Amino acid sequence: MCGIIGIVGREDVADRLLDGLKRLEYRGYDSAGIATLHSGIIDRRRAEGKLVNLGKELSSDPLPGSIGIAHTRWATHGAPTTSNAHPHATDEVALVHNGIIENFKPLREELQGRGRVFTSETDTEVVAHLVSEAIEAGVLPEEAVKAVLPRLHGAFALAILFRQHPDLLIGARLGSPLVLGYGDDGETYLGSDALALAPLTQKIAYLEEGDWVVITREGAKIFDKDNVPVERPVTLSGVSGAMIDKGNHRHFMLKEIYEQPVVVAQTLKSYLQRMEERVTLPIPDFDLGSIRRVTIVACGTSFYAGMVAKYWFEQFARVAVDLDVASEFRYRTPVMEEGGLALFISQSGETADTLAALRHAKNEGQKIAVVVNVPTSTMAREADLLLPTHAGPEIGVASTKAFTCQLAVLAALAANLARAKGRLSAAEEKDIVRHLAEAPAALNAALAYDEMIEGMAHHVAAARDVLYLGRGTDYPLALEGALKLKEISYIHAEGYAAGEMKHGPIALIDDAVPVIVIAPSGPLFDKTVSNMQEVQARGGKVVLISDYDGVQAAGDGCLATITMPKVHPLIAPLVYAVPVQLLAYHVAVAKGTDVDQPRNLAKSVTVE
Ligand code: AGP
Repeated sequence: MCGIIGIVGREDVADRLLDGLKRLEYRGYDSAGIATLHSGIIDRRRAEGKLVNLGKELSSDPLPGSIGIAHTRWATHGAPTTSNAHPHATDEVALVHNGIIENFKPLREELQGRGRVFTSETDTEVVAHLVSEAIEAGVLPEEAVKAVLPRLHGAFALAILFRQHPDLLIGARLGSPLVLGYGDDGETYLGSDALALAPLTQKIAYLEEGDWVVITREGAKIFDKDNVPVERPVTLSGVSGAMIDKGNHRHFMLKEIYEQPVVVAQTLKSYLQRMEERVTLPIPDFDLGSIRRVTIVACGTSFYAGMVAKYWFEQFARVAVDLDVASEFRYRTPVMEEGGLALFISQSGETADTLAALRHAKNEGQKIAVVVNVPTSTMAREADLLLPTHAGPEIGVASTKAFTCQLAVLAALAANLARAKGRLSAAEEKDIVRHLAEAPAALNAALAYDEMIEGMAHHVAAARDVLYLGRGTDYPLALEGALKLKEISYIHAEGYAAGEMKHGPIALIDDAVPVIVIAPSGPLFDKTVSNMQEVQARGGKVVLISDYDGVQAAGDGCLATITMPKVHPLIAPLVYAVPVQLLAYHVAVAKGTDVDQPRNLAKSVTVE
């Protein structure tokens, strides 16, 4: 997954390309590059590491040219080095690519067989050579690209420059997102998403699967996968060009943790009718009554939100739920009931595995519901029932506010499903509305423990391995806590259903392994505490996250306790997400890792 941008401009484009890359860094940040055309040559600047390195290159050796392409990388093939950084070029073409060319090996051997010399280890470079070969044989660029695209297997969004055609840029997409932007003064742009182009234009056309586009200074011609000229609707993206800043927070992640009371309240506004004490949906008359089975599919943090939803859907609506990570779902040939509901959860709305799973479920005749935070994303556009979270742009790679907003939407969906199935009385619905409405204040109260958590984070920062335990809806939260810690502190951490410990993982316990126990007082508290005591009996160092009653009951002998506000079990997964997020954050800060852009990760995973 990478970010790409291209400009057919009226003046030099290098600075605007670099600026566009800053908006695309969430897609990958291990190396970057820019190429322009000027005085009849293709000229490139590339650098390893963060974008600042490319910025230094450009300020020491500026790049003229009013047409150009740029790329920020998340390495799939070949280490993040300058020679593997995009754009890849020959004497005739330069190109940037987001995706994976799955058949690059045979293509590479074929090209090397014809004497082509490769300068990188990437899959992408084969495309540059295939197009260049045709150009060198006298084929016109459009024909060259048209001939090469069908030879590529896998996923790609491409932007290609041609040395002999200083007014020409060709783009193509299959599997990876690519948008076309129309400038006011005849400039035209290509980008991985509307966000990248926001300061340049709001007039966006989303290219469909298999589309390719020929851009000149006269305009853009779009062709579909059968090379038939097509029009794609131009919409106003409404994405602000203002660069999101951290405010007075040290990291985007901390800022986003602190935004949760406001954004959860914002999100709930679309799902709660406070006066009527009813839950609702953006499409109130979407027929949920006929749903007999729900399939929930997602990745990472969004998957854990889905796991919590499974408990709620079965508890409130008594509807059977299948749950799966997207990368497994799409290849396990799932049995799906005709007319079932398939629910996809995603912050970015572009995660390749989840998108492919969505399309699989659509082909299986499922109704498609999507909980998503980016309203202009591909998944949002392919949903039958769009359930937006209003968390605002989430910049920190470790997802936080999107998670709690997803839980708010999923709780409302569970209640809507229960009412549609005639399994929720007006009184029960009233209670759910009241408890959900209490969440923003409870999230705020939980944030008050920030300093205290910072003070005890060293206990965990020193550890090599950490375990998280929970029961019921706190089990997915234990998994989420472990994921957060892994992602940003690089400490090995695992989440377990507390009752599962004695079936093996308890062998890991010694006094060097902190065990984070998530146990709000409630129906499963005693069960969780007995599992906690099994750990303590073997010298395990427990950090207990509970409320006053819970800490009073079981806090003795713990390494540390985090006393949360007393909340209703329904909103506990939302509220207890805060200490779990803050603990990971402060451990990462103590370890000095790059909290917002952790190594080896990217915010949106647009490749398989
Ligand atoms: C979470 O902190 C990670 N960034 C990652 O696991 C993420 O949740 C996963 O890649 C899914 O992303 P999505 O919600 O944008 O689909």
